[in-house]
Amino acid sequence: MNESRICIALDFQTKEEVIEFLDRFEDEKLYVKVGMELFYGEGIEMLQLIKQRGHKIFLDLKLHDIPNTVKSAMKQLAKLDVDIVNVHASGSIAMMKAALEGLEEGKKGDKRPLCIAVTCLTSLDQEVLDNELLIHENLEDVVLKWAENAKAAGLDGVVCSPLESKVIHEHLGEEFLTVTPGIRLASDSVNDQKRVTTPAMAKELTSSYIVVGRTITRAENPVETYREVYRQFQGE
Ligand code: C5P
Repeated sequence: MNESRICIALDFQTKEEVIEFLDRFEDEKLYVKVGMELFYGEGIEMLQLIKQRGHKIFLDLKLHDIPNTVKSAMKQLAKLDVDIVNVHASGSIAMMKAALEGLEEGKKGDKRPLCIAVTCLTSLDQEVLDNELLIHENLEDVVLKWAENAKAAGLDGVVCSPLESKVIHEHLGEEFLTVTPGIRLASDSVNDQKRVTTPAMAKELTSSYIVVGRTITRAENPVETYREVYRQFQGE
């Protein structure tokens, strides 16, 4: 199997649940996403444990603060030997540049973690943009502009919907990564995601990586389900 481009969202509360889940995959090397829930609960030790097992980690903490604070925080995160970290694009180009500086300063060896930006959270819609945030541009234009800002700052890509992937790649190049949640198999219930896409569609829509949570973690047979997602997205 090629290196996985499927980030399994480990949205669990405890280390024990994570270990039980990872054990099912035996020696298979995975890409996993550790978000706030797990990181705030189990901390750095959890990351080390996942790394010791040979998995790659997308540490999804979505930093957003003044540039100097983000720079110092990223310097610390770079020391954790994770593979992808992220920030909110709405924090400004200056903040995103500072994030990269922090990663460069803190990196272990010669490779810094990839850094991607959350464009517009999928929980925001046009009404919230207009009425609460006083942003009167089209949501799609905001996503593209914030992705442009991320590229201008030197970031490696963005978190976005698979439905936005193509236009982002068209404008910002194939190399600019699109990491896309909101993935479901055709047989799944949709849960709280509004606009969902199958892994096969995400591949067609040029997602660089897909983020898949409950479809795999809550499946009756997570390993089988992962294989189906892999087959559809990476085509082996
Ligand atoms: O279970 P599900 O596949 O919906 O999980 C998706 C994961 O991606 C969750 O960890 C969620 O926090 C994250 N995510 C998302 N939408 C975004 C950004 C992140 O669903 N726009």
